[in-house]
Amino acid sequence: MKKAYDKLTSGMYLVSAKADKEAGCIINTFEQVASTPELVLIALNKDNYTTKQIKKSQKFNVTVLKEAARAEIIQTFGFSSSEFTDKFQSFNKKYDLLNLPYITDDMVALFSVRVKEEIDAITHTIFLGEVSESVLLSDERPMSYAYYKEEKKGITPPKAPSYQKPKQISGYKCDVCGYIYRGETLPIDYICPICGEAKFTKITE
Ligand SMILES: Cc1cc2nc3c(=O)[nH]c(=O)nc-3n(C[C@H](O)[C@H](O)[C@H](O)COP(=O)(O)O)c2cc1C
Repeated sequence: MKKAYDKLTSGMYLVSAKADKEAGCIINTFEQVASTPELVLIALNKDNYTTKQIKKSQKFNVTVLKEAARAEIIQTFGFSSSEFTDKFQSFNKKYDLLNLPYITDDMVALFSVRVKEEIDAITHTIFLGEVSESVLLSDERPMSYAYYKEEKKGITPPKAPSYQKPKQISGYKCDVCGYIYRGETLPIDYICPICGEAKFTKITE
């Protein structure tokens, strides 16, 4: 069933915000909702520090990662909390018209957004907002989420909506009679107690 989710296409984005402190995180959930007015949405985990900064300030910006973006950007903004570090410190940054920071290198477009509505999505908050300004930063190709996963062999942390639990080995199935041995590791020279064969295939769940 989860395989269906692999067919969804999206991009790679960095959402930045500031109320008490500058914060930012990687997302793949940024969508244009309407063009007149220019409405967009993002889905952020309620535990993200960036979410708290947006709730307080009611504004955020989104930059679109270029395909050749450095891995450090994703590592820094996608796998640690802005609460304890200044994620922007090792990158060149500028400020947009909402006075929010954004990274200049590695990005192809910038959207500065004021929040219009917050929608509760159980673990996440969906921020629906109106674009105050959109800026083309570069003509380079944007990075797709598929490119990140397939070409960069990138992983996604549990807080992302697109996170998929890794499959666990739940047992081994006898190739001859279908008997299932439950356990992580099949003992060496294990013989099927039903048909006496020793040919097994790993099963996962
Ligand atoms: C490829 C990728 C996609 C992600 N997508 C989302 C997303 O759409 N929404 C979200 O809340 N977190 C997403 N995350 C996870 C956040 O970037 C991560 O939890 C981050 O450390 C939160 O930082 P913060 O606490 O400073 O806000 C994603 C991470 C990666 C690497």
